[in-house]
Amino acid sequence: MADESNPPNPKESYPFFTFSNQDQLGPCFGFFAPPLTLPPPPPCIEVPLFESEEAPIKSHADPIVLGDGHQRITLLKGRVSTSDVFKVSNSDLVPGKYEGGLKLWEGSIDLVKTLHSEIEEGRLIVEGKRVLELGCGHGLPGIFTGLKGAAAIHFQDFNSEVLRFLTVPNAKANLIKRSEERMCPIVRFFAGDWSEVHRLLLHVCSDSVQNREDFVAKDEGTDGYDIILMAETVYALSSLQNLYKLIKKCLCRPHGVVYMAGKKHYFGVGGGTRQFLNLVEADGNMKTLLLAEVADGSSNVREVWKLSYE
Ligand SMILES: C[S@@+](CC[C@H](N)C(=O)[O-])C[C@H]1O[C@@H](n2cnc3c(N)ncnc32)[C@H](O)[C@@H]1O
Repeated sequence: MADESNPPNPKESYPFFTFSNQDQLGPCFGFFAPPLTLPPPPPCIEVPLFESEEAPIKSHADPIVLGDGHQRITLLKGRVSTSDVFKVSNSDLVPGKYEGGLKLWEGSIDLVKTLHSEIEEGRLIVEGKRVLELGCGHGLPGIFTGLKGAAAIHFQDFNSEVLRFLTVPNAKANLIKRSEERMCPIVRFFAGDWSEVHRLLLHVCSDSVQNREDFVAKDEGTDGYDIILMAETVYALSSLQNLYKLIKKCLCRPHGVVYMAGKKHYFGVGGGTRQFLNLVEADGNMKTLLLAEVADGSSNVREVWKLSYE
């Protein structure tokens, strides 16, 4: 259990904001308790952007509007049924089989809004950067960085089906079909467990932006992603170590940054942002900074954190 009486403090003075998220609430969490032994994880594979055959399950795209006035962002998000894809119903997660990627979770909305503020206020530059979204599901935060000029976005999910039937159509709808006025980013999609997927990601990361004139990070010398995004990925205590190890393997040093959105505590499964931050702080390699807190009256407070080496 996270020691909520003694939370990690932000390490530097930084603009801090709270926002209400009543306009686009995601679903409530409903987790099954993990079974004692899990099935072996699905194989690590790349899911292609274009398939030779039409996908058998269609995603229906709906617009989702975040914020208002000049803060307004419209993204398209698909909808597919969990029972059509995984033959399970009324569940957010079946450990080892389906990890919740077909739903749009609240944290990914929090993360898009925070990225928007970070970019608007000059604290984050995404143009020309290599972005990895871990546990992407719909992939809206990664897609948002593409709309803001990222050079390459790699989307990772536990389930290839989620990528195939949801993330790929979302990326096509938002980035490829709407790319008339800007250069379309390179997008790639990787399925696999956090304990293994680095083998694929490390292999492909540096290839992605070769020969791109808009790739600004090429002189900075190190391999890896410039920005790692993740929303609602820190719920299961058992996977936090693998997730943190994966981040350390894939994040560019020294300038790489991680943006993490999640709940302070996930009731019933034991994880949470504070549990993850305890790992990061014990390791002592990265700084942590609280960027946003979503306290909309529910007891389950949501947060967005930034992690960086510098
Ligand atoms: C609750 S869903 C969140 C989806 C999306 N980020 C959102 O906020 O809408 C958790 C995501 O983490 C990923 N995930 C969970 N455990 C994983 C593991 N052990 N290895 C790889 N991915 C995992 C799943 O792919 C799933 O999409």
